[in-house]
Amino acid sequence: MSNPVKPDLSVAIAGVRFKNPVIAASGTFGYGQEYQGCLDVSGLGGICTKGLTLEPRQGNSGRRLYETPSGLMNSIGLENPGIPVFIEKELPRLRELGPVVIANLSGSTGEEYTEGAKLLASSPVDMIELNISCPNVKAGGMAFGLDPNDAASVVRSVRRVCSHKPLMVKLSPNAPNLTAVARSCVEAGADALSLVNTFKAMAIDIYRRKPVFENLSAGLSGPAIRPIALRMVWELWDAVEVPLVGMGGIAGTEDALEYLMAGAAAVQVGSATFTHPPRMNEIILGIAGYMEQNNFVDLESLNIRGLRCQGA
Ligand SMILES: Cc1cc2nc3c(=O)[nH]c(=O)nc-3n(C[C@H](O)[C@H](O)[C@H](O)COP(=O)(O)O)c2cc1C
Repeated sequence: MSNPVKPDLSVAIAGVRFKNPVIAASGTFGYGQEYQGCLDVSGLGGICTKGLTLEPRQGNSGRRLYETPSGLMNSIGLENPGIPVFIEKELPRLRELGPVVIANLSGSTGEEYTEGAKLLASSPVDMIELNISCPNVKAGGMAFGLDPNDAASVVRSVRRVCSHKPLMVKLSPNAPNLTAVARSCVEAGADALSLVNTFKAMAIDIYRRKPVFENLSAGLSGPAIRPIALRMVWELWDAVEVPLVGMGGIAGTEDALEYLMAGAAAVQVGSATFTHPPRMNEIILGIAGYMEQNNFVDLESLNIRGLRCQGA
């Protein structure tokens, strides 16, 4: 028998209400405008911006993208216009699109993170995703996300300057002890955690007999990483009490459902948008269809670990 009630796909994370649990992942969706006409952007739960730094950055030279079996390697290097330009030029248009707006914040030093956070805290972004997990920059980035004490110190100083802005911390799968890093981020004031960023990886061009990337390593994303990232979400659900936003290799409805059942309150989709831009819209419809067919009225009943919503 089919469910007479339409399932409620909405979820609240750190006091912010998302109309559905599907969010465009940082660095794969620009500032939202770029995809207008390729998919229904307004139908998404949220949009994470490209990683933002206080000053503009050109990003890395040399090759930036490289496909592998079931994966994508990138070495973009946080190319972005800088936070002041983002707030003035991109944010007003991004806000008009409708989904929850999440600013992905990065930096090379603790001070740069804090100054960037101050600007974002007084801007109309809905949430900050603190990126302590970018593997493609020489200074900062992932370095802060590998060690529990380093992670706590940057989260604490950012929290201090954005006491009223919801703060989600994006974790690196490259941390030797991810559970310890996650716990220290929560103790330092993170309202939510997102995971995972890309895995540090490498490729060699056998014809040039040189590494493909000038930085030698790059970040691996896409379906190849999904089972590992899913296992990390499952494990962190036992380790911390805050909502988790899961990502890594989601390419269809079934993949998103796995994360939502493993304890994620919401999911982010990155590389799959490059392959097929309307994928996120299809996943949202697919989740709704699965819930209807299986009589799940809301995400809480779907989640086999128990959903952690906060406020709103
Ligand atoms: C081209 C590219 C650029 C990315 N840039 C960022 C970034 O600026 N900040 C960030 O936190 N994550 C960045 N990521 C990581 C994604 O947001 C996501 O964590 C990762 O790709 C795993 O998800 P996926 O397998 O669905 O792509 C980037 C990923 C790709 C492929």
